[in-house]
Amino acid sequence: MTVHESVMVTEILDTLLPAFGRDAHRESWLLDCTLGGGGHTSYFLKKGIKVFGIDRDPVAVSEAKKRFSSEIASGQLRVENLAISDLSQKLGDIKIAGILADLGFSSDQLENRGRGFSFLKDEPLDMRMDPESGVSALEFLMEAREEELTDLIFTLGEERFSRRIARSIVEKRKFDEFPKTAAGLAHLIERSVPPNARHGRIHAATRTFQALRIHINGEMEQLDALLDGVILKLSPGGRAGIISFHSLEDRKVKHKFRKFSDQGFTIITKKPLEASDNEVKQNPRARSAKYRVIEKDE
Ligand SMILES: C[S@@+](CC[C@H](N)C(=O)[O-])C[C@H]1O[C@@H](n2cnc3c(N)ncnc32)[C@H](O)[C@@H]1O
Repeated sequence: MTVHESVMVTEILDTLLPAFGRDAHRESWLLDCTLGGGGHTSYFLKKGIKVFGIDRDPVAVSEAKKRFSSEIASGQLRVENLAISDLSQKLGDIKIAGILADLGFSSDQLENRGRGFSFLKDEPLDMRMDPESGVSALEFLMEAREEELTDLIFTLGEERFSRRIARSIVEKRKFDEFPKTAAGLAHLIERSVPPNARHGRIHAATRTFQALRIHINGEMEQLDALLDGVILKLSPGGRAGIISFHSLEDRKVKHKFRKFSDQGFTIITKKPLEASDNEVKQNPRARSAKYRVIEKDE
């Protein structure tokens, strides 16, 4: 079974811990908006910091509850099955000195959930992080208009063959031959791109799968909820750090942080921090991570 490896741990601790060093923040909380396997959270717990961790994936939450049962019992950790968009209203008046969001999906979700996140697997095409909310990838693909598919594969996947891929999806659908599994869809995508684009550095279906996952889970809207809502709950002197794996997300964070810098926040990372070569060697997933931090002025 794959276990998710947390990215950029040193950089995260170096940039977020200072907020907890202030006297005013000894009793404040870290909000881990993307708890996952609890990797990042575990480091903050070891430092004696109180953590409120959420994840929209119910399996991630139940596993975290097992892993951290004693910290939950002692009151050091609070865990809830929530999406970021529902978080602000649950915070009450707790003092928040740190916010962490490690966006996207985990290796556990890719490998172990059976929800069709990986194009290598013969699993149902679901792709929802929370299988109780919204529609599955298969339902979406059966209904979406061709132009809508082209647009989203192009914008969220940055896939230059988006038009051809959308066309084959719609063609297959007409004849009731649409693949019902992730591996089946990947095969269909592979056959719709020109032969010389089938054997590149990454699988021909990578970008389309990324686009579908982002769309199905409303990931850009979730990021808006983080930037327009949750971050505003930081206490003075508190810091928020966001790791993104997609250029559209990083751009959104960059622009929002710039705006915030005229509205009572200071940007801590002038340029996004990236994982070291050594980390990327150990954990290739870290290659595209971009980490930005902002502090609320006192
Ligand atoms: C990259 S993993 C986090 C890994 C974690 N930081 C660790 O070190 O173990 C992202 C996790 O965030 C969750 N997630 C993604 N978007 C979310 C959202 N909008 N609201 C709540 N959870 C989200 C996913 O379900 C996944 O479990």
